[in-house]
Amino acid sequence: PSLSIKDNVIEASLPTGQSVQVHLYGATVTSWKANGKEQLFVSEKAHLDGSKPIRGGIPLVFPVFGPPPQNHATSSLPQHGFARNSNWEFLGKSSSDAPGKDSQADLTVKLDFGLSHSMLTEEFRETWPYEFGLVYSVTLTKDTLETALQVRNEGKQNFEFQVLMHTYLNIADISDVRVKGLESKTYLDKTLQGTSHVETSAALPITQETDRVYQNLDPAVPIDVTSAKDDQPLFSITREALSDVVVWNPWIEKAKGMADFGPDEAYKNMICVEAGSVSSWQTLEAGEAWEGGQSIKSRL
Ligand code: BG6
Repeated sequence: PSLSIKDNVIEASLPTGQSVQVHLYGATVTSWKANGKEQLFVSEKAHLDGSKPIRGGIPLVFPVFGPPPQNHATSSLPQHGFARNSNWEFLGKSSSDAPGKDSQADLTVKLDFGLSHSMLTEEFRETWPYEFGLVYSVTLTKDTLETALQVRNEGKQNFEFQVLMHTYLNIADISDVRVKGLESKTYLDKTLQGTSHVETSAALPITQETDRVYQNLDPAVPIDVTSAKDDQPLFSITREALSDVVVWNPWIEKAKGMADFGPDEAYKNMICVEAGSVSSWQTLEAGEAWEGGQSIKSRL
């Protein structure tokens, strides 16, 4: 695999043609190319200069999802926490191949990124004073992109966190897309004051603003984003230790209202399917570690 590092952007590619790009700002994956096509959506108006979280790709949400609750250790943090607006360090690349097989076809590359308490801005260090260490691993294989996060408590106090991989999938046309794997699951509808509902659709179409937190899913059961034309998955997402999935599309008005979202009609070309642990809190005791991740398979 080849690697390039330029202007805070790490790019790796496989001899079989796939590539991945990660900005050190937020350790945000901003490009994943497979089958000769871009798999992730990035807004044309996304800020790539570190002035604002990147609108698109895979921003990482940590240690709080959404607006922080009152009277909680995260209360003074921005929406979705600080991981997506902090400068991470590149820890290095590793590659592997399966011996005895066609080594080119089985080659994978893994990029590791780190963030710890001492790397945060003073403001974030003060508002969330815990000694933590994050290692975020982005692994590219021939047909998947895997992202995994390890959270370590390096201090003496317990802390609570939520985490989410806010993946913007690139799609040709939202009207052709269905989301499968959610039927009979309970979700909170953030467009309806966070009220609780049960999903009745086996193949959910997106026809309006959608902002739902599906809870207590089996991470091993894939969430499939399928094409209505042939019912085949465009993307298939399996998770580890991440039992919630957020499905988000801002639709027309919200898309227009976001200064960094563009063009306005691009809401038709994206769907966020976000693997996370957000409906309760993970408690990490002093000295303990937690790990979770997702694997996205594409046929786009
Ligand atoms: C989703 C939330 O995960 O992220 C939505 O469920 C939110 O409520 C969206 O609007 C985008 O958030 P932000 O902070 O990137 O504009």
